[in-house]
Amino acid sequence: MGRSDATTAAASTRDRVTLHDLKPKLADMREEVLAGLTATPRRIAPKYFYDQRGSELFEAITRVPEYYPTRTEIGLLETHLEAIGSVLGRGDVLLEYGSGSSRKIRLLLEELRPLAYLPVDISREHLLEAARALAGDYPWLQVHAICTDYGNGLTLPWQPPRRQGVAVPITGFFPGSSIGNFERSHAARFLAGVRDTLGPGGQLLIGVDRRKAKARLEAAYNDAAGVTAEFNRNILVHLNRALDGDIDVMAFRHRAHYDEEAGRIEMHLVAERALAFTLGGVEFEFAAGEAIHTENSYKYAPDEFRALAAGVGFDTVAEWTDAEALFSVFVLRGG
Ligand code: AVI
Repeated sequence: MGRSDATTAAASTRDRVTLHDLKPKLADMREEVLAGLTATPRRIAPKYFYDQRGSELFEAITRVPEYYPTRTEIGLLETHLEAIGSVLGRGDVLLEYGSGSSRKIRLLLEELRPLAYLPVDISREHLLEAARALAGDYPWLQVHAICTDYGNGLTLPWQPPRRQGVAVPITGFFPGSSIGNFERSHAARFLAGVRDTLGPGGQLLIGVDRRKAKARLEAAYNDAAGVTAEFNRNILVHLNRALDGDIDVMAFRHRAHYDEEAGRIEMHLVAERALAFTLGGVEFEFAAGEAIHTENSYKYAPDEFRALAAGVGFDTVAEWTDAEALFSVFVLRGG
């Protein structure tokens, strides 16, 4: 490609990416973290996992042999792609909760050929980088990237055009069982918000990790290579850096266990000895064995998930599950 061709291609990629910056209000990190660490039981919100290193570690988790969700979901999308395309319909608008740089969104874009792709993410840099990469790889793709915190509802800053007098329907995509990181009541609120955002005719393709044997789940969150342990401890590395702390990160042990009744994996960091540290200008003392709760990952039986969806007015119109019944992908449609 000659220089001017390259310049033209680059310009057209940029022309096809529009950023709608809704300027998400970032919570005051210091206030939030200090409040969590002084609460009983002590906790840190899982969103603080995802600094640069944390995002890399999460990517690494998706590749460890014990962590089946990512592989299984991709397998389902690949195997049933044509059927998924037929249920969802092609040429509509595709809105992704989270900004997809992954294999999953590429599969869908290629199959659905949407009129426009709307990735939604709180991280402006990550959002733009992913949006530009996709626009570069798919010369037919129009991208409206929306920077906002979608956990608290979303009013679209861009309206789909009309086709034969009706607005082009919007399909939402929420992969990875990220819904599992919401408390169950928050998951219901979130789905209700999605329904409102997608509007009449809207549908949602969503990946959900299923309840299953405790041993299988606990292995997935306690991989032998220790990647999940490092991911968990990295939250403290992040806080040390962001809030000028001196936490001895290696004094904390990763613990993940499955609470069968609640249907959730809980992740904790447990102090292996009594210790003291300073964070954000505040001193903390931990007794040996004291823990910080860092994440819940809820699992859903299929009927439980369908009921959750029905409770907010979504009908389940299709679902696919792997042969081992580990993970399900659902299509929900607003009634
Ligand atoms: C992002 N989320 C769906 C992952 C999960 O399985 O809950 C985060 C994770 N935590 C530990 N391993 C993976």
